[in-house]
Amino acid sequence: MLTETSRAPERSWEEIRRDFPILQQSINKHSLVYLDSAASSQIPQAVIDRIVWYHSAEHSNVHRGVHTLSQRATNAYEATREKVARHLNAAFSHECIFVRGTTEGINLVAHGYGRKHFKAGDEVIVSALEHHANIVPWQIVCDEVGAKLRVIPMNDAGELDMQAYEALLNERTRLVAVNHVSNALGTINPVAEIIRLAHEKGAVVLIDGAQAVPHMAVDVQALDADFYVFSGHKIYAPTGIGVLYAKTALLEQMQPYQGGGDMIASVSFEKTTYNALPYRFEAGTPSIASGVALGAALDYINAIGLERIARWEAELLAHATEALQGVPGVRLIGTARHKASVLSFELEGVHPHDVGTILDNQGVAIRAGHHCAQPVMNRLGVAATARASFAFYNNFDDIRALVAALYTVKEIFDA
Ligand code: ALA
Repeated sequence: MLTETSRAPERSWEEIRRDFPILQQSINKHSLVYLDSAASSQIPQAVIDRIVWYHSAEHSNVHRGVHTLSQRATNAYEATREKVARHLNAAFSHECIFVRGTTEGINLVAHGYGRKHFKAGDEVIVSALEHHANIVPWQIVCDEVGAKLRVIPMNDAGELDMQAYEALLNERTRLVAVNHVSNALGTINPVAEIIRLAHEKGAVVLIDGAQAVPHMAVDVQALDADFYVFSGHKIYAPTGIGVLYAKTALLEQMQPYQGGGDMIASVSFEKTTYNALPYRFEAGTPSIASGVALGAALDYINAIGLERIARWEAELLAHATEALQGVPGVRLIGTARHKASVLSFELEGVHPHDVGTILDNQGVAIRAGHHCAQPVMNRLGVAATARASFAFYNNFDDIRALVAALYTVKEIFDA
């Protein structure tokens, strides 16, 4: 057992940054400054090594073979499910369904739960802060069954109007779908309160945790979340793997949304019976290597510690907010009191795409555009924003480079 005195010394952030080989390169003759982790985070060497080891020594198909390699692949893949369950504090690992990413997880709930349980006249509530992935699947199902989509408004800072939310909830509300952290603005939403109020009206709640899980500890049981979804590629694992957490009782009421291998118990032309949870919702060969890598990524961040990560990222965000506010012509978009790791902004007179391109010429990677959240942009009266997003491998030098690059943009446009 580790004791206070036997614990390994804390690694510095500088040392931790060196775990990420991709960050050690130059882009356009400048050291890379990666400020787009909200789109996709980078992958540490330990996770890359795990993928290489999987392909070197364990690769085969899962849940199918009696041979040794298939068992190794299955064990490695299923070990991740156990780690995810522990990470989210799910009551059972079968409540963690592997999907391709957050988008697929939400679609699974919309089609597997919504199509079965929503009726004409029912209501589904989303918020003005949502990513398209947490709007369009609900629109599709609402249109199909004749249910109504209602929207929690937000204020100019990008905070949800909780009084308006309470007023929207009623006995027709079947489901509430909101993000934990906004990808476009970084707002941290009061999801525990949102869930509590929905439950009082008998509605279930889906939380899009894509932007939260990389930055803070999430306890699905403490939150009493019915559905909680996140993506591997935003939490230091590769693309192609994500997780839908759902309470057992809800999974039992859901219709499989994809049919195929692995999700069945028996098939005949007369009748098919479905496999046990979680496999019932996992048709076809999954992204096994990415799944194994997700387990390694969770091990990696837990070795650093989520509380330590959250503290450092809060420092980075505070420092970057202050630094950007000091650049003439910069207007921050999204100034909520509680924010995580995302800084959206405009530079007066310059289209965000031009900001992004000129920054890239200086080795600074940000995202520019509507961030798959057009209703957020419309609400705030902008077509697009430039967005810098932070992870624990960023540092104050990255922020200095961002600010210096913004002055170069201004020089070019002021000339
Ligand atoms: N949802 C991702 C983002 O916010 C792609 O950039």
